[in-house]
Amino acid sequence: MGPANPAPPATPAEAGPGADPDRWWHGGVFYQIYPRSFADSNGDGIGDLPGIISRLDHLAALGIAGIWLSPVTVSPNRDWGYDVADYCDIDPDFGTLDDLATLIREGEKRGIRILLDLVPNHTSDQHPWFVDARSGRDAAHRDWYVWADPGAGGAPPNNWVSIFGGPAWEFDKASGQYFLHNFEKEQPDLNWWSDEVRAAFDHIMRFWWDRGVAGFRIDVCNMMIKDAELRDNPPATEDDPLDQQFMGVKAVYNTDRPEAHDILQRWRHIADGYDTTRLLIGETNVEQLSTLMQFYGNGHNELHGGFNFVFINAALEAGAMRAIVEEVEATLPAGAWPIWTGSNHDVSRLATRWAGGDPAKVRCALMILLCLRGTPFLYEGDEIGLTDGPIEQSDVRDSVGLRFWPYYKGRDAERTPMPWSNAPGGGFTTPGVPTWLPMADPAQCNVADQAADPDSVLAFTRRAIGRRSQNDDLAVGAYRSLPSPEGTWVFARGSATVVALNMSETAREISGLAGRISVATDRALEGTAVDGTANLAPWSGVVVEG
Ligand code: GLC
Ligand code: CA
Repeated sequence: MGPANPAPPATPAEAGPGADPDRWWHGGVFYQIYPRSFADSNGDGIGDLPGIISRLDHLAALGIAGIWLSPVTVSPNRDWGYDVADYCDIDPDFGTLDDLATLIREGEKRGIRILLDLVPNHTSDQHPWFVDARSGRDAAHRDWYVWADPGAGGAPPNNWVSIFGGPAWEFDKASGQYFLHNFEKEQPDLNWWSDEVRAAFDHIMRFWWDRGVAGFRIDVCNMMIKDAELRDNPPATEDDPLDQQFMGVKAVYNTDRPEAHDILQRWRHIADGYDTTRLLIGETNVEQLSTLMQFYGNGHNELHGGFNFVFINAALEAGAMRAIVEEVEATLPAGAWPIWTGSNHDVSRLATRWAGGDPAKVRCALMILLCLRGTPFLYEGDEIGLTDGPIEQSDVRDSVGLRFWPYYKGRDAERTPMPWSNAPGGGFTTPGVPTWLPMADPAQCNVADQAADPDSVLAFTRRAIGRRSQNDDLAVGAYRSLPSPEGTWVFARGSATVVALNMSETAREISGLAGRISVATDRALEGTAVDGTANLAPWSGVVVEG
């Protein structure tokens, strides 16, 4: 008998994207939809599944291969979907299971597959499991959550703090015990030492695989399992990251435990057993690239991909980003594939955070994401350079913003509705209907206007994705940094493609470039020849194919 997990035969790194069905996503571009804010079909000011279906052609025209849907499962919305009350049904705000089936089918017609968001760290406190668990110490589901007796004088069992502020423990008077919540107290943490919890999630995954979803984005998967002894966290020091300094402790025992990998490997085994095209992409919000790499296992027995928060949190700066990419390229396990992202529903949009609203910088950021080796995940609005929305204190819906305003204003600004056109309601909702979060003035930035303008950010994004789908170098070719002047970043992809970016405020000469410019942040350069040296304007980039 061979080993239990035989390594798949090595596929040549430069095989074209169509060469291996299991790697259908390697050359592709993914797109995150925050469903409440994408498109509202029924005029209640809240985006929904039929709205998404009605906008699939926009994603098809963009060349998107897969969608990650932030949670559409049933939720009382304490954390806007990330507090799940039923893992196997659709929240009525968004539609029905039939609507999801239609989305999967309509996506398939356009070559777009659907990833759902799986939230395994915690449930809603209204989930029937927790309602039962809370009913008494002998309840059938008691052990599905993390309960502990009070510490000395009735204090919480240990010094763990919630990511969202305050102690990570809530006292349950009726039973005289505390339960753990790494986020809001309405989001009790599941006990991943329980075999029943594991079996329940095996079932949930199969439920969705059976309905044809292509995979999952797995919420805070690095945090799922906690120290079995519930040991106190050590005090933070001045050398620790700022968030830990604010919390006063270093999160050692309530996050990043090694046993999380066992659970993820179990899921990979289930996914592969189902069929090897299914994807598991983790929200691996860790501070070190070496920690991120661990979530890839041996390259084929754990996550297919993990979001790279070191990159997301980096400055839009040539040297800093290049160093991160080089480390990823050098340390990623053989056969594994990087993921690149600049925005999501938890961080300020890249057009604001990286680019400060400057469209030239937005194009450079998009060129980086779309030209690196790996699968980029664009966030809704990235393709038009959408900046963060206008959020006043009275608009805040995110519990973290409500708690920390004005020190931290929360995550609403990156969750404002998608502007589809300059019509009343922005094409997002029925004219006159108040949207769940305010929409930025659609006259400033919207899909329809940009679709009609060949010099728009959207037109640029389409061209960059389009070229990627035609040129195997860009889709799957190896990455190699090339020497270049300060403030620039030049890299080769595959055997005959070079990407050159000037990420500085002054023009820069890049030598060693020869061929034809296939994609440029300045459209006028596309199709022109380069013979040796290119003079790049400030904040501009070109793809040169030899
Ligand atoms: C993840 C989600 C975030 C949510 C948190 C708790 O970080 O992306 O939106 O608040 O998990 O579920
Ligand atoms: Ca709606």
